Amino acid sequence: MSDGFKLDFDTPKLPGSGDLVICVGEDLAPGPKASELLGRASGLIKRAAKAEKFKGKFKSVMILTAPSEPEIDRLVVVGLGKPVEGETPDWPALGAAIAGAMAGREALLVTEFPGFQGDDAAIAGLALGARLRAYRFDHYKSKKKDDDEEAPKKGGKLTFAGDDPQALKKAAKQSAGLADGVMLARDLVNEPANTLGPVEFAERAAALEKLGVEVEILDEKQLGKIGMRALLGVAQGSERPARVAIMRWQGGKKSEKPVAFIGKGVVFDTGGISIKPAGGMEDMKGDMAGAATVVGLMHALAARKAKANVVGAIGLVENMPDGKAQRPGDIVETLSGQTVEIINTDAEGRLVLADLLTYIEKEYEPRFMIDLATLTGAIIVALGKDHAGLFSNDDALSQQLSGVGEATGEKVWRLPLGKAYDKLIDSKFADMKNTGGRYGGAITAAQFLQRFVKDTPWAHLDIAGTGMAAEASDVNKSWGSGFGVRLLDRLVADHYEG
Ligand code: BES
Ligand code: MN
Ligand code: ZN
Repeated sequence: MSDGFKLDFDTPKLPGSGDLVICVGEDLAPGPKASELLGRASGLIKRAAKAEKFKGKFKSVMILTAPSEPEIDRLVVVGLGKPVEGETPDWPALGAAIAGAMAGREALLVTEFPGFQGDDAAIAGLALGARLRAYRFDHYKSKKKDDDEEAPKKGGKLTFAGDDPQALKKAAKQSAGLADGVMLARDLVNEPANTLGPVEFAERAAALEKLGVEVEILDEKQLGKIGMRALLGVAQGSERPARVAIMRWQGGKKSEKPVAFIGKGVVFDTGGISIKPAGGMEDMKGDMAGAATVVGLMHALAARKAKANVVGAIGLVENMPDGKAQRPGDIVETLSGQTVEIINTDAEGRLVLADLLTYIEKEYEPRFMIDLATLTGAIIVALGKDHAGLFSNDDALSQQLSGVGEATGEKVWRLPLGKAYDKLIDSKFADMKNTGGRYGGAITAAQFLQRFVKDTPWAHLDIAGTGMAAEASDVNKSWGSGFGVRLLDRLVADHYEG
């Protein structure tokens, strides 16, 4: 994992070098341990706060550099804001604010949160947010420059300090697998397509075996035998062969049906014969963000030994326009038996997902199927970059997703499905066509997918706006965001475990 950021655990003491980080509420009063360490500098905080107009608001930071006493590099004072009845603070956002202020330095955080319940969940959240904020993808920078103000700085070490360092370590560990899972997803999305083709991606999925995940890799011969002709049709214009990876985590009762996550893994989307314009095409290395999220999620679930049976399935192809590429007008018979007229070879993601939905529903009879895909530009037009599009045949599943979206900050917004939209993909020559015209493009894409779901509760997340070329947030400064890993880890934890 490429964060280079370390966590450590110790008793409260003045750091020999680096920063001392303390948290205060809006009364600006440090807790007893922080006061003890600060000595006379305790009084300095209120004076400095007045001069700096620091009010102790949530996530705000005040930095006192080289105070005469105690002898530390910097005192970093982090605001906790006002406690609200029945609400827990956004600890990951606070952890991110601390890592942001550290900017690659070493720091010791006194784990006192005056006015707040600094329980295990708080420590786990702080650790998660700090690590996610510190992430950066710079394998390919031969000279690592640190002069970019916006970029989170490489390295750094955050020491959680309290009376029982072992307990702190245990608490922080609760979120370690989740942080690793999100960063794994980010790494995959950020990696360029020349080094991450379908075969290499499948190898990255297979590496989950070391966590106890069973991984099955299907090659083109096997996919042909199964009958995934729609998926193979997309891949046939590329020199690099398709793969499907099936990941199984068996943390629940043997008899229990699994939940299933399905990801679009187009390692690069040129559009195929319906080729895309050159401007911005480089972004299409991120067209496997759905698959990356599924791999990151499986990592997170296995690392925390989730008490659930989970199947992850990803379709890995490259959409290229060579002499063997599929053409507009071609008709393919999908695994389901339904036929599709290809109108636009750039509407390839739905073809990959269609066969996977059919396969997973039949083979695993899952409790639900959730697919993730950077499926349409239209979802970015509709929702921008702050919500993923949610489409579903099941109100209960939708509500669960909206709820965990609010809780994790990985927000989703439901859009409609219906007969009038479904009609738009009827074809003159086949059972359906793979595009639905100019209007409601994200919806007609979802209608297409729904034609491959029989009676299983299903949700489709269109993450074209949130999974790649992401807007910076507290916990993410990376192009590939890993969107969906935290969302779906929480969905499983809150609704499908135990
Ligand atoms: N991968 C793209 C969608 C996309 C666009 C993702 C921008 C991220 C950013 C998808 O395969 C695609 O090309 N969709 C077409 C569908 C159209 C041809 C019906 C689109 O959105 O234009
Ligand atoms: Mn496309
Ligand atoms: Zn695509």
